[in-house]
Amino acid sequence: MTVRTHALYQPWSVRNLELRNRFVMSPMTRNFSPGGVPGPDVARYYARRAAGEVGLIVTEGVGVDEQQAIDSPRIPVMHGDEAMAGWKAVVDAVHAAGGKIVPQLWHQGAMRDPDISDNPQWRGHRPSGLWGTVGNTSSPADYVARMEAPHAPMTDEEIADSIAAFGRSARRAIDVGFDGIAIHGAHGYLIDTFFWADTNRREDRYGGDAAARARFGVEIVAAIRREIGEDYPIFFRFSQHKQQDYDAEIATTPDELAAILVPLAEAGVDVFDASIRRFNRRVFGEEHTLAGWARRLTGKASMAVGGVGMNNWLRDMATGRGETLSVDNLDEVEQLFDAGEFDLVAVGRALINDPEWTRRAVAGEAFAPFERDRLARLE
Ligand SMILES: Cc1cc2nc3c(=O)[nH]c(=O)nc-3n(C[C@H](O)[C@H](O)[C@H](O)COP(=O)(O)O)c2cc1C
Repeated sequence: MTVRTHALYQPWSVRNLELRNRFVMSPMTRNFSPGGVPGPDVARYYARRAAGEVGLIVTEGVGVDEQQAIDSPRIPVMHGDEAMAGWKAVVDAVHAAGGKIVPQLWHQGAMRDPDISDNPQWRGHRPSGLWGTVGNTSSPADYVARMEAPHAPMTDEEIADSIAAFGRSARRAIDVGFDGIAIHGAHGYLIDTFFWADTNRREDRYGGDAAARARFGVEIVAAIRREIGEDYPIFFRFSQHKQQDYDAEIATTPDELAAILVPLAEAGVDVFDASIRRFNRRVFGEEHTLAGWARRLTGKASMAVGGVGMNNWLRDMATGRGETLSVDNLDEVEQLFDAGEFDLVAVGRALINDPEWTRRAVAGEAFAPFERDRLARLE
């Protein structure tokens, strides 16, 4: 057992946020907040990871202040006094345990399933009314069948309302003590359906080339920056893959990716959270990872994710391909960090499995065996 001293295990800061190391709890929906309100069990769950020395917690996706932002009534929201009191208790518990925490603001858009919501009369917002061409997907067939039919594209008023909803929720989050804001711009949800040419066929200022498709996300970042000022960092999660099609792309070249990410950076993003199946996977050729490209193209910090501490990637586990195991792959994480591929490392399943995962990583201790049923519990 040798204490690890690599830069990954040392402090790092962005704007006024100081982290004790570069490990970040990846955003993970847990569905344990009835009525959208996170309770004491949610506070204990996050505080345990803070006590386990994770540098930063990004919460599960949290619905922004618009009724049709999310579907399940067990997903937490960032509006309403009851939910905000719940979040204040979460933030206080994390800070008391020595941790830092930012909420992942979420608008599900095309992926919102009216049938599991309390308000089935509201359909999820879609830039052009489309769910997306079904490709390599593990979404259940009955869900796809329900979602596939097109409906009305978002109106200008709906676009303006959704942007404002992100701004309001960011403000409320900062008011209860969150340390910054994370935005969910990935995986086929609302912002990502603007980036993706397949779902964005608009002929107005929000559609067209990559820069025009980025505009909705850019206006959200700008609204949040206006609301929260200059002290707090903004994290932005983006992805090539969609739940509608794992092989989909928002950009086919680094130049096209730059056309999306650079305006987001200029609007106020500090850290690009490059969501991908495995942290070491190269894109656009063999040279760089998605996080590596984001860092090089924007000059901002980036975060890698996918399979850190795990032998496989999430979808292999979800589709039952092979056994899912805890592994120590930190040597490879360190090598890619040294090659300048990212500044932060997000850890998902390994941190649900073991709240002490980061402390063990720092101490050079063996990791706990992976127990899949922990993903169904809030501990
Ligand atoms: C149970 C579960 C829920 C997730 N929910 C979200 C979410 O709300 N927002 C998000 O951006 N990603 C979500 N993800 C993806 C994770 O943040 C992460 O990118 C993915 O699990 C890969 O990291 P890992 O291999 O370390 O688990 C979720 C993953 C899991 C396992």
